[in-house]
Amino acid sequence: MAKLPVISFVSPDLPTDGRVIVFAGKGLALGPLASKLDNITGNLISKVAELEKFTGEKKSSISILAPANSELSQIVVLGIGDVGEYAADDWARLGGATLGCLDKNAFTIVLEKPDGQQIADSDQIDFLSGINLRAYDFDKYKTKEKDKKQEENADHTIIISAADPGKLQKLWAVEIGVSAGVMLARDLVNEPANILGTLEFADKAKELESLGCEVDIIGEAKLAELGMGALLGVGQGSSRPSFVAVIKWNGGKQGEQPLAFVGKGVVFDTGGISIKPAGGMEDMKGDMGGAAAVCGLMHALAARKANVNIVGLLGLVENQPDGNAQRPGDIVTSMSGQTIEVINTDAEGRLVLADVLWYTQKHIKPSAIIDLATLTGAMVVAFAGEYAGYFSNDDELARQLFSAGEKSGDKVWRLPLGKAYDKMIDTPNADMKNSAGRWGGAITAAQFLQRFVNDTPWIHIDIAGAAMGSPKNEICQGWASGFGVRLLDRFVRDNFEA
Ligand code: BES
Ligand code: MN
Ligand code: ZN
Repeated sequence: MAKLPVISFVSPDLPTDGRVIVFAGKGLALGPLASKLDNITGNLISKVAELEKFTGEKKSSISILAPANSELSQIVVLGIGDVGEYAADDWARLGGATLGCLDKNAFTIVLEKPDGQQIADSDQIDFLSGINLRAYDFDKYKTKEKDKKQEENADHTIIISAADPGKLQKLWAVEIGVSAGVMLARDLVNEPANILGTLEFADKAKELESLGCEVDIIGEAKLAELGMGALLGVGQGSSRPSFVAVIKWNGGKQGEQPLAFVGKGVVFDTGGISIKPAGGMEDMKGDMGGAAAVCGLMHALAARKANVNIVGLLGLVENQPDGNAQRPGDIVTSMSGQTIEVINTDAEGRLVLADVLWYTQKHIKPSAIIDLATLTGAMVVAFAGEYAGYFSNDDELARQLFSAGEKSGDKVWRLPLGKAYDKMIDTPNADMKNSAGRWGGAITAAQFLQRFVNDTPWIHIDIAGAAMGSPKNEICQGWASGFGVRLLDRFVRDNFEA
């Protein structure tokens, strides 16, 4: 990972030397410190703004060389539009955009609202998170350019216009765990499958113990005993063993029913015997994006000592074609007892989730289950990675997730479930089949999962497209986005923490 900028907190006062970045709102509105800067430089900001027709519109900026008689060297004014309309995620994106317009020299960032209003602590924290997420770079295998990259993020100073920067610094020390969770998820998705196999992923889950989680790794013998024939069938063509990881964070009241998060962890998806075409297959190293998001979320919740009981469950398998691999037409028996005809071995994610979901509702008995999976190509076609589509059997839970999406910037959009779609996975040969073909592919996959949750309130989020290869933005410049961590941290915070 690239070096993260070092952020230091100082009292609201004007920097007197070096490079400074300040913000301007619509109509060239300047906050108190930026106005003062304009004054002491002989109205340099106003003059250059007029020359360059800069009015503080979002995504515009001016760069000014400070006068020779000053210790200041450069002033950058970043237009941020109307901050009255900013949601939490906009502050994160502003943080990202701010880092994006700095070069490798150290800057002092004067964070204040152009309208002179106090910025809420949580907005300042989001701004800092945005800086960190923008700085992320997966460069561990760049042996030649590494030294250069290491230098790129300088030690910027951020002037927080809070009455008590010490208090904010303490808050940040806790909240930095959430961006660390996003970066953990990104790291796991970016890591190639030769390095991150099922065993290595289980070890990564185990590392969450250092934050106070309880982690249990269930191996193949026990999974067979539990009757997880659907999950084990997927892994049987790989030389790597399958696992289920159970990660518990007990931050809530003792005995209080937990909330469960389930992640698809296919460390590589070749498609199995229904093998995928070669073009783009390398992307399937990211087919554990759901499990990565659950790990990242558990990291975030444990790091900020969330006041809630949570269980994260990962189905860790590899989908490979060898002499022992399952075949199209095979019929497997899931832990629920329901039989499944494997029409297409590339529809493996739902087979893995079927058993982990059943295990979760039966043995964890959570108040609700949220699963995340890079489940279908159909979801990539539908949303191009801008949104993740989700399904739910509970309207209230669905509404809560939608709102967390709007606030966190990990945007989600609900799609329907229904009897007509459920019928499409019926087959004469078994209780159901694992593929109903291309039409409505994301929905029939969700319908399949629903047969394994009983009446437990449940959400399925199909993050194919959103987790990796999604369009770059202010806070994500790389391939893996860490989608789901900020979404579910917000979802838990707003609805389940006392
Ligand atoms: N892992 C893939 C889905 C996927 C595709 C994720 C592209 C990310 C990017 C999944 O296992 C899969 O292969 N799904 C098939 C199902 C089909 C065979 C019914 C698909 O969507 O084509
Ligand atoms: Mn597949
Ligand atoms: Zn897959």
